[in-house]
Amino acid sequence: MSYSYKIKSLEQYHQDYKKSVDDPEGFWGNVADNFYWRKKWDRVLDWNFTEPKIEWFKGGKLNITENCIDRHLATMADKPAIIWEPNNPEERTRVVTYARLHKRVCQFAQVLINNGVKKGDRVCIYMGMVPELAYAVLGCARIGAIHSVIFGGFSAQSIADRLFDAQATFIVTCDGAYRGAKDIPLKSIIDDALIGNKTVKKVIVYTRTRVPVSMIKGRDVWWEDEMDFAETQIEKNGVISFPAEEMDAEDPLFILYTSGSTGKPKGVVHSIGGYMVWTGYTFVNVFQYNQGDVHFCTADIGWITGHSYILYGPLSAGGTSVMFEGIPTWPDAGRFWDIVEKYKVNILYTAPTAIRSLMSFGLEPLKDKDLSSLKVLGTVGEPINEEAWHWYDENIGKKKCPIVDTWWQTETGGTLISNMAGITPAKASWATLPMPGVQPIMVDENGHEVTEKDEHGYLKGNLCIKAPWPGILRTTYGDHERCRLNYFATYPNLYFTGDGALKDENGFYRITGRVDDVLNISGHRIGTAEVENAINMHSGVVESAVVGYPHDIKGQGIYAFVIYNGHHGDENQRRQDICLTVSKIIGSIAKPDKIQFVTGLPKTRSGKIMRRILRKIAEGEIANLGDTSALLDPGVVVEIRDGKI
Ligand code: WT7
Repeated sequence: MSYSYKIKSLEQYHQDYKKSVDDPEGFWGNVADNFYWRKKWDRVLDWNFTEPKIEWFKGGKLNITENCIDRHLATMADKPAIIWEPNNPEERTRVVTYARLHKRVCQFAQVLINNGVKKGDRVCIYMGMVPELAYAVLGCARIGAIHSVIFGGFSAQSIADRLFDAQATFIVTCDGAYRGAKDIPLKSIIDDALIGNKTVKKVIVYTRTRVPVSMIKGRDVWWEDEMDFAETQIEKNGVISFPAEEMDAEDPLFILYTSGSTGKPKGVVHSIGGYMVWTGYTFVNVFQYNQGDVHFCTADIGWITGHSYILYGPLSAGGTSVMFEGIPTWPDAGRFWDIVEKYKVNILYTAPTAIRSLMSFGLEPLKDKDLSSLKVLGTVGEPINEEAWHWYDENIGKKKCPIVDTWWQTETGGTLISNMAGITPAKASWATLPMPGVQPIMVDENGHEVTEKDEHGYLKGNLCIKAPWPGILRTTYGDHERCRLNYFATYPNLYFTGDGALKDENGFYRITGRVDDVLNISGHRIGTAEVENAINMHSGVVESAVVGYPHDIKGQGIYAFVIYNGHHGDENQRRQDICLTVSKIIGSIAKPDKIQFVTGLPKTRSGKIMRRILRKIAEGEIANLGDTSALLDPGVVVEIRDGKI
């Protein structure tokens, strides 16, 4: 496969960027021609950001699985699509060729049909990182069902909320999942999530850990039984095949829940055509993917990074994608390097938090590891600090591998701002230049474009995007107004990212972090309001306020100020109870790192909590708390400051 849209020089980047802005329809129409459409689109783009209405390739008919699988079969049937590395390095690995992927996805599509799943139905997928997760996702896409993958770290309550919001009627899960030394009882968590649920009709359970599970007659079925039966139905002369449903480019492909500044996560909806073109285009260009390269993205498919750069991007490009079930530090901190050596990985794409965590083990885990296959390194999820960037560059890339710092979001489908490996320049801890089709603009609080440079010669402002790119979200599930309010209403006619940024004299962007009440904990997005709601569910808690603070490994940690009115236990026991409450309501990823008990919170006369002050205290900047004159009771700040932990 060759990619006619692949950018091969800095000069071409500038030319393509210009074309994409001057004539977006011509430009993206040409890129989209590299994919397989059963019928060509009526119009490349139709949009306004006021409703918002965004349509790419409308009227175009396709199935994304024909692009990710079928069209590769003639020439690449025996090429590995997915190389699976188990949690336990002693267990057998699995290589899934394109032919095998086709067979399994077809079988699972038939399983879905047998269980009553129809086009447009929402299927919740709650599984560990096993190849069957890929079959489940792609099986949904094959029949036009909308998948909604939920990360294995979310609690039963979180799943229940998402099932309700999506009105999901089917679930695919595992008995359990292995992650490092832990076994996570996924099916049992699903059982809890289903108490009181009225929409889910069937639960398909894949056997991974073989822990005892409850199987409810009429509702719960075993993956293996279903797959065996489906095989007998669709096998003809030794060939397994299942016709892909014909979908419109603007039909929804999936829902993925993500946190915002309100207490309730929203279901970001991506549609088929634009998402396919965007993930395929950015995958090939950012990583400079070549046929045959082995790509290892260490994310979990429960997050957008896994959707776009383990599955859809690499597969639509006919690539080879490594899927890893475990964690970077188990059985030891050399695990990533063993995987790189074992599969001769060419592209390694991971998160700053993983890099910092591995850095903390020193260079011993790297000893005798052959990393010479590496050509490109990537990072995503949060701003990368210069120290981590240089460690990655020197010790992993041996100063020979460009590092791509890819800035994007669940809502953007794929990378918006990043250097392209070896093509456009890199700059430590800067995401650098926008991808073709991406028109960033920096605005101040009032939405005016920032033009004044700061003392370093940088423009500083809130990062917005002026026009749609193919991978932009289309709506938030079941509530379009929420989508408008969240992303398109802060500044008229602009998509607001929620991030702050700097721009240098070369037009390079550096993302400085969220400017809204959203935290980034180990690259995972969590709203402060969500954590507060969960803390407030604890019976002894009167009120709480949550802010982020700098954390060496996680990037940000969660600091909670809590007014407590119970009599049970000592302070540490109360802290543990609160943490467990948060784990049950959201999941262990949202557990506060620090809890400080206080008798009051700094509030303005109108009752608004002044988070700015709490943030400063949590960050340890207690010498200069700024203007506290608007506070109802300035005394409370002194108490909080003195009690800092
Ligand atoms: C937020 C989006 C994109 C997939 C993983 C996270 C932060 C992401 C970078 C980067 C600085 C980054 C932003 C963004 N972020 N990548 N390279 N440099 N910040 O997806 O959960 O939707 O979070 O992650 O703050 O808004 P997400």
